[in-house]
Amino acid sequence: MRKTIIAGNWKMHKTVAEARELAQGLVNGVKAELGSAALPDIVLCPTFVCLPEVLTTVKGSSLAVGAQNMDYRDSGAFTGEIAPGMLTSIGVSHVIIGHSERRQYFGETNESVNAKTRAALKHGLIPIVCVGETLAEREENRTDDVIKQQIKAGLAEISVEDAAKLVIAYEPVWAIGTGKNCEVNEANRVCKMIRATINEIYGQAGGTVADGIPVLYGGSVKPSTIDEQMEQSDIDGALVGGAALKVEEFLPIIKGGAKRHQLSASRA
Ligand code: PGA
Repeated sequence: MRKTIIAGNWKMHKTVAEARELAQGLVNGVKAELGSAALPDIVLCPTFVCLPEVLTTVKGSSLAVGAQNMDYRDSGAFTGEIAPGMLTSIGVSHVIIGHSERRQYFGETNESVNAKTRAALKHGLIPIVCVGETLAEREENRTDDVIKQQIKAGLAEISVEDAAKLVIAYEPVWAIGTGKNCEVNEANRVCKMIRATINEIYGQAGGTVADGIPVLYGGSVKPSTIDEQMEQSDIDGALVGGAALKVEEFLPIIKGGAKRHQLSASRA
């Protein structure tokens, strides 16, 4: 049975006080509205400065906390960077790697994504590795090639044991923050293709490792889209930006994930 994961990427939003308020609202909301129901993995990803406060706020709840980025090195003279061991030292469990905004504005490449993914795994962090095509790439019918390349290069030299710990997020760049959803059958097709590509990489020795790897969809996920997305065979959750910034929008998305989680648990 694959995990269902609902992750909120808060990007460069929220002061420490605002982050505390949002996290507390979500903790209360999950408790009040989902009570003792079986929950999907819920991961909040605030900015670095808000991580300690959000960790304190979710303590004792079932919510987990992730970072939005990190350096791949352990320490050193790299002004402005944050090392993986610093994240684990405060209780961070997940890290988003290679978000398209990092690739677009901060020069990240498949190679840096690979270095960071390996570093995260080495330090026991769960990497949420982001892949996705731009609008131009989609219009040139290069979607599958681009994503296969991102997956193959991004997962280079990662053992099959480590690969089993990964989470992948399919985020078409043109759907992020635009209000445009990738049509749900197409999103499901790409998520399935990602899984097939990973199984191909690991070949016979890896068997069907990817069948256990959660593949999330991201790109303008909203309360109104989540149910249909969570009904698909190969979309195991959501990476949510804009709609993760308000309790009244993120809570229904968490509920959508909980439905999928409960359904797949009953089938297992
Ligand atoms: P969005 O962002 O939900 O605002 O489109 C998703 C993301 O960037 O992860």
